[in-house]
Amino acid sequence: MFFDYADSGAWTEGTYKANEADFAAIKLRQRVLVDMTNRSLQSTMIGETVSMPVALAPTGLTGMQHADGEILAAQAAEAFGVPFTLSTMSICSIEDVAAHTTKPFWFQLYVMKDRTFVASLISRAKAAGCSALVLTLDLQILGQRHKDIRNGLSAPPKFTPKHVWQVATRPFWAWEMTQTKRHSFGNIVGHAKGVGDLSSLSSWTAEQFDPRLSWSDVAWIKEQWGGKLILKGIMDPEDARRAADTGADAIIVSNHGGRQLDGAPSSISVLPEIVQAVGDSIEVHLDGGIRSGQDVMKALCLGAKGTYIGRPFLYGLGAYGKRGVTMALDIIRKELDITMALCGKRDIREAGPDLLHHRLPVV
Ligand code: FNR
Repeated sequence: MFFDYADSGAWTEGTYKANEADFAAIKLRQRVLVDMTNRSLQSTMIGETVSMPVALAPTGLTGMQHADGEILAAQAAEAFGVPFTLSTMSICSIEDVAAHTTKPFWFQLYVMKDRTFVASLISRAKAAGCSALVLTLDLQILGQRHKDIRNGLSAPPKFTPKHVWQVATRPFWAWEMTQTKRHSFGNIVGHAKGVGDLSSLSSWTAEQFDPRLSWSDVAWIKEQWGGKLILKGIMDPEDARRAADTGADAIIVSNHGGRQLDGAPSSISVLPEIVQAVGDSIEVHLDGGIRSGQDVMKALCLGAKGTYIGRPFLYGLGAYGKRGVTMALDIIRKELDITMALCGKRDIREAGPDLLHHRLPVV
């Protein structure tokens, strides 16, 4: 049930698949006999130094992939020197993650109808020392994923005989889950009005996404937060220009990993037109379908200043906990390093359109 939650997209999963597949059509220029010593992947995202321009994307229910999942992923990201983004829909709360890390992380905000609760989430993120707020704009209404419906996924999970069987056949996971008390949305239970226990949680969250969300709400949130702001879920040049006008620090070109609008283009395919639309007025980041260092390189060459991975770190987390997240990051780092070198560059900040190969294959 939890693996399917991570490994699924909306409806036909066409956009989810395109996110990955469209990277393959982008080709890199291979260069030879250039000095490849002393290479650096270090860069910045919204002014923060990163050991490579790859952050961990916000993902809900991460603490269900592995006990204390958000804490472990945040610790792995911290040790690696890349940003970790905690989802509003996390199992471990903002305070849980802050208590187990030493550097600031980023907090992702969903705007709920209950604005008092939204304001309290913002205050809690400030109190925890979060250094950026990632405001997700593409979930005013929830996309539909067939696998979750078939599995009866809910939060907290409702156990059917099938789930009991699945847990029984995964004794290690079940044992591990008994090692944590965190089994529900830590940012919500006990904090939102009327949500003091697990039984009231599901109906509250389902009703709380706000279909009336507007650009004036973005301005309100920016004012409440007062720090670095990243707007996530931009797929259209017009929206991108609008987002830049808000004075936010960055936008994330994202279709929510293909989990919202099935039929939307892949995020990598719209990146060039968005970069062109906003110019230098705002930093552009990208997520969706990044599965390798080569993909990161391609996104950077097309104008992204930073990238995010969602599922790749979740798979690592589910398999090996903190070590698995580090392994996922390490694989991507090695691939990015070698790819950059074979493109004839020693500094990742030099990645640009000149490294792309534009000729079509001869058929
Ligand atoms: C997500 N995503 C997401 N985004 C967000 O803003 N808040 C959230 O709570 C979640 N939850 C979530 C759960 C799971 C299981 C996945 C896979 C994704 C979207 C996420 O931040 C990101 O946009 C995508 O995951 C990027 O695509 P890849 O790297 O997974 O292909």
